[in-house]
Amino acid sequence: MNYSTKIAERQWNLPDKGERESKREEVFMDDIVQKNHIEKELLSNLDGIETVFDGGAGCGRFSILLAKKGCKVTHFDISQPMLDKAYEFAKAANVLSNITFIKGELEDLTAYTDHSFDLVISFDAPISYTYPNQESVIGELVRIARKRIMLSVSSRLGSLPYLANPMNKNQFVLDDNCSDPWVQWCLENWDNAVENFHFNKTLCDAWFYQGIGDCANEIADYEAGGTPWVLTYLFLPDELQGILERFGVKNVRLAGPGAYARTIPKAILRKIMGDPGQKEAFLEFCYEYDRNPYVLGMGKDNLFAKGEIG
Ligand SMILES: C[S@@+](CC[C@H](N)C(=O)[O-])C[C@H]1O[C@@H](n2cnc3c(N)ncnc32)[C@H](O)[C@@H]1O
Repeated sequence: MNYSTKIAERQWNLPDKGERESKREEVFMDDIVQKNHIEKELLSNLDGIETVFDGGAGCGRFSILLAKKGCKVTHFDISQPMLDKAYEFAKAANVLSNITFIKGELEDLTAYTDHSFDLVISFDAPISYTYPNQESVIGELVRIARKRIMLSVSSRLGSLPYLANPMNKNQFVLDDNCSDPWVQWCLENWDNAVENFHFNKTLCDAWFYQGIGDCANEIADYEAGGTPWVLTYLFLPDELQGILERFGVKNVRLAGPGAYARTIPKAILRKIMGDPGQKEAFLEFCYEYDRNPYVLGMGKDNLFAKGEIG
């Protein structure tokens, strides 16, 4: 097993992972925008879709939505805490009969024959976490799809500003008084992060030109028994489009969910999110803006793609 998979397994199997991941839209405004974008794409592309494979399905944000729409969903993930949380949510939503839960790695989809599922989805970067196998994983996801594929991977242009903004989540905290540990950590460490910040062009160059850093720190941390963040490959828009097209996907369309929202000051975003009418109109506009080809590289940190098979 390579370091990427070993590190991913340790990180994603942290016992509280499912619980923490399932709370993101309650506390971070950029996550609200991104989830809304993907939901809109899914719900407007369900014609003729009966079976779905959700690769790296997490705690079921999208698998449960599709199960509620009557699809038969295979919910596939490397993490038992994520699968447990998804099972709990699916039970509460009364859709267990529409979901099959499978523990597995995207790097091995040999259990599935060609064109097994009408729709294959994989959202919020599971593919990027399979580095250095990200390209063959996309090929395998295309292979098992019959009609349509929708993905979101880590975006190189969208993520690089975070190298000069170490506390990037701060600008999206919905409520400073919420008890979420990540929010409190962001707020408490802001001054320290600014104080210790030093712009590192060498680091930026490595990620910009290779889509990944040297990973030495993560590997050393892992070997010392730590739980480093997963090795994450960052895609460029034309690169992702080219890979999908090489595997035969047609009509590839990309988007950068979060491109519009990241330009807006926190105080204004909070006002919008606090008023249901403005919020709905804003999310509708974000969806339109973030699909414009001139901004799609600058989404929150994900690059979205959809295409037709054959
Ligand atoms: C950020 S979460 C996204 C979850 C879900 N797709 C969503 O959008 O809510 C990434 C998920 O990918 C899973 N994952 C990471 N590496 C994986 C791998 N190699 N194979 C399968 N799942 C993986 C993690 O366990 C986690 O649940």
